[in-house]
Amino acid sequence: MAKPPSDAALIARYDGRVPRYTSYPTAPHFSAAIGADVYAQWLEAIPAGAAFSLYLHVPFCDRLCLYCGCNTAVVRGEAPKRAYAGHLLEEINMVADRLGRRARVTHVHWGGGTPTALPPDCLTGIMEHVRRRFDVVPDAEIAVELDPSRLDTPALEALARMGINRASLGVQDFDARVQQTIGREQSFAETADAARRLRQIGARSLNLDLIYGLPLQTEDSVAHTARLALRLGADRVSVFGYAHVPWMKKHQALIQDEMLPDAAARFAQTGIIRRILEEEGGYEPVGLDHFALPDDSMARAARTGGLHRGFQGYTTDAAPVLIGLGASAIGTLPQGYAQNESSAAAYNAAIARGRFAVSRGVALSDDDRVRRSVIESIMCGGNFVIPPELRQAASGLAQFAEDGLVLWDGESVTVTERGRLFVRNIAALFDAYLQHHTAAPRHATAM
Ligand SMILES: C[S@@+](CC[C@H](N)C(=O)[O-])C[C@H]1O[C@@H](n2cnc3c(N)ncnc32)[C@H](O)[C@@H]1O
Ligand code: SF4
Repeated sequence: MAKPPSDAALIARYDGRVPRYTSYPTAPHFSAAIGADVYAQWLEAIPAGAAFSLYLHVPFCDRLCLYCGCNTAVVRGEAPKRAYAGHLLEEINMVADRLGRRARVTHVHWGGGTPTALPPDCLTGIMEHVRRRFDVVPDAEIAVELDPSRLDTPALEALARMGINRASLGVQDFDARVQQTIGREQSFAETADAARRLRQIGARSLNLDLIYGLPLQTEDSVAHTARLALRLGADRVSVFGYAHVPWMKKHQALIQDEMLPDAAARFAQTGIIRRILEEEGGYEPVGLDHFALPDDSMARAARTGGLHRGFQGYTTDAAPVLIGLGASAIGTLPQGYAQNESSAAAYNAAIARGRFAVSRGVALSDDDRVRRSVIESIMCGGNFVIPPELRQAASGLAQFAEDGLVLWDGESVTVTERGRLFVRNIAALFDAYLQHHTAAPRHATAM
């Protein structure tokens, strides 16, 4: 048997720019063919009884971190935040009116930006309104993304009243020099305090976000951050590779390319963080970039084939309908994807006119559905049979099998432990849009 290739050889072969496959087709292939009218028809056709998830996007922050790739802006005054919150209430009404019923909701996810940048009474008011217009089941997951250094007592009290039971804390890196360079200062003490207080108000599950591949990070510095993160006792940890896309996020241009670790250094950094989380922290790897304690629902889902991938990354949420609310939010409906206007101004204007703010999306073809299911299974590290219509595309799996990244017998495929870091590249084999577009959209690097 041939000797397995070295890490360096794998990095050289697979360090292309490939999508993260939080959807298929991916967002660059959405078009203006899906607008407010199509969205309204899609909503009306959703079968009664379907479980819903809601995603509420808050595009505001109190600080702008230089690395940030999210759709957000620093907004200081309260007036624009209150106006936006009013439009979220209105959009909730519009969706519920179209559905014509109080649809059953099993998950609510508040993302951003930083949701607590909204005034506390706006947060509680919106959540009350969600419960009024939807049937939020008693054991629903109510999750929120938080910046630990922007979490004061009024915000915590609001989160408690909202019934938040899951929280995700942005950490990124604890090294003071790295933090200065990326414009995100945050002490370990304030992060630990935020974690403790969130547990007190009923967050039964905590997630931490770490990033590797940032300026000035070294193997030693990320190891130190990972060990500090272990002390926070989170149930889950996400480990993202820094996506440097200054052509899309202008503020990232302040991070000069020369300051960034190269592909080999990034690979080594993620390897060290992984080892520490698994060997010293007892976390189990989940998909490409998540880790969860063995009795956490995500670790269980990964073991039993119940893991899913959506716009917020990996999830245990199996609801067939995701309603996106707010600027840039993307909904996943049985018929396809629908994305709201990206800018808060355009979103506000559409809702103020009494129209849905959907401006782009894609209707799923039968071929899209087959490929989407295969791509999601690969991203979730699954073991499954390739459907006959994709056997030709699957011939490309031979190279991945030779490299020890998958087990492939011509019918079924299993992603190996070594293949976990290359799932984006494996999934790309089945992406018809990537193959057919010569002027492909630019993505962040795979490693
Ligand atoms: C909406 S933010 C989290 C909540 C909060 N705003 C905060 O920063 O703590 C979502 C996460 O996306 C990740 N993220 C943001 N920009 C990124 C980038 N360019 N590359 C990789 N991950 C990024 C960070 O880990 C961040 O915690
Ligand atoms: S990382 Fe979080 S706090 Fe920083 S700018 Fe992005 S969304 Fe805002």
